[in-house]
Amino acid sequence: MSTPRLTHNAHVDRASVSKAGIADPAFHPSLPDFATTPLRPAPKSAQRLGVRSVLVKDESQRLGMPSFKILGASWAAYRTIMAHLGLAVGAQPTLASLREAVAAQGSDLTLVAATDGNHGRAVARMAKLLGLPGIIMVPGGTVDSRIEAIRGEGADVRVVKGGYDEAIAASAALSDDRHVVISDTSWEGYTDTPGWVIDGYSTMLKEITDEIGAGRVAEPTVVVAQMGVGAFAAAVTREFATRPARMLVGVEPVSADCIITSAEAGRILTIPGTQDSIMAGLNCGTPSIIAWDDVFHGYDVFVTVTDDDARDAMRLLHDDGIAAGESGAAGLAGLLAHAQGLGLGSQDDLIILVTEGITDPVAYREIIGTDG
Ligand SMILES: Cc1ncc(COP(=O)(O)O)c(C=O)c1O
Repeated sequence: MSTPRLTHNAHVDRASVSKAGIADPAFHPSLPDFATTPLRPAPKSAQRLGVRSVLVKDESQRLGMPSFKILGASWAAYRTIMAHLGLAVGAQPTLASLREAVAAQGSDLTLVAATDGNHGRAVARMAKLLGLPGIIMVPGGTVDSRIEAIRGEGADVRVVKGGYDEAIAASAALSDDRHVVISDTSWEGYTDTPGWVIDGYSTMLKEITDEIGAGRVAEPTVVVAQMGVGAFAAAVTREFATRPARMLVGVEPVSADCIITSAEAGRILTIPGTQDSIMAGLNCGTPSIIAWDDVFHGYDVFVTVTDDDARDAMRLLHDDGIAAGESGAAGLAGLLAHAQGLGLGSQDDLIILVTEGITDPVAYREIIGTDG
């Protein structure tokens, strides 16, 4: 379906959403350049939406990467490699202890992933940090800057004929004793690693709720999450489903609407064709089976947005001093495109997550109309 739509989720049951799993609190701070990311006020966005406030969790820089995805890829790499080597999770899981384990028993391993850009770059970074080779599968049509960024981490990038789902299949086919697949999506028989990816995202959500708990930030009335396979959205609802927000909103591109289509049908569906939204991180045809239940029950409303909606949101975020990439701006895009349908008003305090900074600089310059 190519026009934007809004669906009130008939299956919402926020009380049934799983409790958030977590990455060990020692792990992410053990990675180079770890810092809590900022929560930034976005007054121009608030004005346009007619709400009291908009706060942006700004993940345009996280652990030296232009996206939050390294939080999931790193924790999943730790857990998956330890399990692959038959080792228990240490009392203090850190990058150093993972390096030791790899040097002692796993130096012949290769890390493998499929990606629209951000997850694969993060897995490639983990391979580099561990001194291991990385093989990253990308869909045909992935823009050069995203491919070059993954190559820049030292990985072997392989362009797969087809879309994201074909890249996933190609990465899964490489799995063997020496090739460890670190996927952010799941399928029958492959659920542990993508579960740890979701757990890794919890560090980011916890940073937000810690600020709310400390009274430095208002409890939001609306929280919005952009959705690809739904792993990120699952992490968001695991943190917010039982908090007071009156509305959790899930956003997808009109051309990659597998979750809203599945939600409307009441079961997981694969949408036909190849997805080619400029919101590249959200391009996929099938929801992740381990994210599904929590996304299906954990969102009050689902909406879809066009590429132009994403461009509009990127420009507005730029005006608010935030450099958001296409997928990063998708949450705000959903609110802008559906403000009336969502009934946003002057009593609302919104939290959006800019999950990505500039990952396609050529497109960013064209969209913003300046050098940023
Ligand atoms: C920047 C960005 N935001 C959001 C998402 C959506 O995450 P998920 O695929 O878990 O739904 C992605 C996925 O790659 C992404 O790259």
